[in-house]
Amino acid sequence: MAGTRVAVLGASGLAGSLVMRRLPSRGVETVGVSRHLGVDIGDLAALRRALVGAEVVVDCLNHQSFTARAAAGFFEPAARNVVAALEGTRARVVCLSIVNAGDPRVNRWLGHYRGKAAQERVYRGSGLPLSIVGTTQWFELAEQLLRQTRLAGTAFVPGLLSRPIAVAEAAEQLVEQALTQQPAEVTEVCGPEQVDMAELARAINEQDHVARRVVRIPLGGTALGSGALIPPSPTVITTTTAEQWLSQR
Ligand SMILES: NC(=O)c1ccc[n+]([C@@H]2O[C@H](COP(=O)([O-])OP(=O)(O)OC[C@H]3O[C@@H](n4cnc5c(N)ncnc54)[C@H](OP(=O)(O)O)[C@@H]3O)[C@@H](O)[C@H]2O)c1
Repeated sequence: MAGTRVAVLGASGLAGSLVMRRLPSRGVETVGVSRHLGVDIGDLAALRRALVGAEVVVDCLNHQSFTARAAAGFFEPAARNVVAALEGTRARVVCLSIVNAGDPRVNRWLGHYRGKAAQERVYRGSGLPLSIVGTTQWFELAEQLLRQTRLAGTAFVPGLLSRPIAVAEAAEQLVEQALTQQPAEVTEVCGPEQVDMAELARAINEQDHVARRVVRIPLGGTALGSGALIPPSPTVITTTTAEQWLSQR
């Protein structure tokens, strides 16, 4: 849609920067929002100025938080501010989320996901046109878990069972939903195959050698280890396999 103005929240992040890179080739004007770009999502006046004229707002914000309290303490007021900044406009929000983040079987273990569920609730209740793009875990998450869970040279990675995708594939879906004439209320995106995220972290470690060893934390019969992160009826199944992603990184 040439001439459309699209704002990307979290434009300097992993997903947001890929969305920012893809949009200009589709003929749209972009505006990026992040603290590095001079706008704190908590500053309503600055956010209002940044969003003037935006027809679509793609929310790729993130807060690295493990507790539900910290996650909800970021995502909920951030979404409320976006809604307030868009008051009186017809802008549509495209919100990047996580498949099944609102499922208590999943989010009782993952505080970050409760924050995402709170974010979705604010947008759903706002009355704004809304497209939620929920994806499964990204291959890049295994990379992050490998690096962030190291203790004295050993990484402790949970054996999450997912059908992961590449963040680039998530960005593609966000751009599609931002620009389509027929947006979907909810799009659920997953990868082509089931992957144990701890095994993927091990394979990454064989390439990067960032940990002396990787200990897989078994999740056994819990929801996270037995399929609750996987959408039963995905809207989009991406094509990149773990092996392809590993060979291309
Ligand atoms: N990792 C996964 O497997 C996965 C799967 C599905 C969905 N998701 C979701 O995808 C979203 C994006 O994740 P990501 O890894 O791409 O994020 P990221 O790389 O951590 O980037 C976060 C972005 O948010 C911005 N930001 C943070 N606090 C801000 C504030 N107060 N004001 C303005 N901007 C702020 C950051 O910029 P500044 O620091 O410059 O402010 C940055 O641009 C998250 O909501 C996550 O839950 C992740």
